[in-house]
Amino acid sequence: MTDLLPSGPASRWRLNDGNAIPCFGLGTFQTEPGSTTQQAVRWALGAGYRMVDTAALYHNEADVGAGVRASGIARDEVFVTTKMWHSEHGFESSQRAFRASLERLGLDTVDLYLIHWPTAPSPADRLASWQGLEKLKKDGLCRSIGVSNYSVRHLEEILADSGTVPAVNQVELHTFVYDPELHAFCTRHGIRLEAWAPLTRGKRFDDPTVVNVAGAHRRTPAQVLVRWGLQHGFVEIPKSVHQDRIRENAQVFDFALTASEMTALDDLRGGPRVGAGNPADIP
Ligand SMILES: NC(=O)c1ccc[n+]([C@@H]2O[C@H](COP(=O)([O-])OP(=O)(O)OC[C@H]3O[C@@H](n4cnc5c(N)ncnc54)[C@H](OP(=O)(O)O)[C@@H]3O)[C@@H](O)[C@H]2O)c1
Repeated sequence: MTDLLPSGPASRWRLNDGNAIPCFGLGTFQTEPGSTTQQAVRWALGAGYRMVDTAALYHNEADVGAGVRASGIARDEVFVTTKMWHSEHGFESSQRAFRASLERLGLDTVDLYLIHWPTAPSPADRLASWQGLEKLKKDGLCRSIGVSNYSVRHLEEILADSGTVPAVNQVELHTFVYDPELHAFCTRHGIRLEAWAPLTRGKRFDDPTVVNVAGAHRRTPAQVLVRWGLQHGFVEIPKSVHQDRIRENAQVFDFALTASEMTALDDLRGGPRVGAGNPADIP
């Protein structure tokens, strides 16, 4: 997959199913349902974002849908992702879970539907979920399908069983949790990596390498972390409920990290994770 560097938040990366995904969007994990979510979506779309990431788990799908509708921006210009929680693994439950999400969102289709975690009663249930997502795509209810928190082993399980390669794998991904092996595997199979916790949830903004690179470009640590992901071809979905931060996090398209800065940032990998759960531990 070779792509030109994106020129703005609405720039899209190609997906292996012929669709395209904005390179950048708004995360909404732990964004309060109700007016907080609706306002964050409105501010983000007003700042040029063209994608919102939600999940059944976040209890804010209805407000994401309301925010998208209220924006007045054409539906096909805004990319909406939601996810099936791991209590819903299985073919029938995946169908039910998707329809419930679609109803809460108040939309006709979802742009990307993800299996939130590979955690399932058994590999057979996990594969049945994937067959469920294939059906949803075939029925035209979601445009692209993918997975989240899948390790190479979980991805290989799908590849061995299914004719449909996930379009996306959304994983914890920032300079401190960067897995070149997973990256190479996904690149080889045309699976787009999407970065959750791209800002390390603010926990590593004081890292000296990040601070030095930020200083060299007169940018903030948040902007450097997002820019690093974009230059790797990842989809970046920083979350904020503050208008100034929503704007700040999107101001990443008018500077570039040098090759040596990218290497220095890559070399920060090795943890610790900021989120709970490690895909490698899931059987
Ligand atoms: N698939 C999965 O399992 C999974 C797991 C986790 C997350 N996600 C998705 O990925 C998205 C992003 O991940 P995340 O929310 O965990 O973490 P994140 O985007 O790395 O960080 C969000 C945190 O950083 C703060 N923040 C945002 N911009 C900032 C800035 N410019 N300066 C200082 N602090 C800033 C936010 O606070 P304020 O809101 O107060 O500004 C919030 O506390 C989620 O929202 C969700 O959509 C997916």
